[in-house]
Amino acid sequence: MAVTINTLRDFKSKGEAFSALTAYDATFSHVVSEAGVDVILIGDSLGMVLQGHDSTLPVTMEHMCYHVRAVAKGNQGALIMADMPFMSYGTTGQALDNAAELMRAGAHMVKLEGTDWMSDTIKALSDRGIPVCAHLGLTPQFVNKFGGYKVQGRDEKQADQMVDHACQLEAAGADVILLECVPAPLATRITQTVAAPVIGIGAGSDTDGQVLVLHDMLGITPGRKPRFVKNFLAEADSVQGAIAAYVDAVKKRTFPSEEHTFKA
Ligand code: KIV
Repeated sequence: MAVTINTLRDFKSKGEAFSALTAYDATFSHVVSEAGVDVILIGDSLGMVLQGHDSTLPVTMEHMCYHVRAVAKGNQGALIMADMPFMSYGTTGQALDNAAELMRAGAHMVKLEGTDWMSDTIKALSDRGIPVCAHLGLTPQFVNKFGGYKVQGRDEKQADQMVDHACQLEAAGADVILLECVPAPLATRITQTVAAPVIGIGAGSDTDGQVLVLHDMLGITPGRKPRFVKNFLAEADSVQGAIAAYVDAVKKRTFPSEEHTFKA
């Protein structure tokens, strides 16, 4: 059965963890969804892992639509979430036009990075039938404002603000919240506060779902490995085996473990 937003809500209400992974082409979309991954994210991380840039900023709508179409062809029933690239949702009008393009290409949900300033845009998208994931915490499109890829929400004021933003974006219509690189206690607090399913990456094991970048969990991304990444291929004998091990570890909440978690 195909995964929908209702499936994710059911997982949350039953306390069952669900898995998400990035994929950018039809073959990996097939492999990932066959392995039982619930959500495929066509992340703008493709700017880094496919295109070799040092940030996600150069990714365009044309790139995103190309990869969403490919993933939609290979998908075997996962929910397809597509990133809205940098400045494709600078105004609500742009967001509506660009989100419609991603949905026409085969996405079931779009993901936007930002905080309370996105409320009106999320409401407009949601009112017009476009499911939205709101990405909080370390939002890579803001790397130049953050001055680097840094854990967010470490002090009490920032943490309280992130809880408020999650509540405001949920009230505006966000169906899913994604938290990247936040201390685990804060991610737990947000997961328990909002009704929407919360997906974490570098956010501890208590979020409703987990996501990783495919190339990271296969251990093939060049350079320094972030703390929250585990190489699942190291202990498997195939790519399929590594992805199955990831799905299993997420369901059993054995991943992420303490070593992959920011505590404060
Ligand atoms: O672009 C991406 O792959 C993402 C994940 C890191 C969550 O946004």
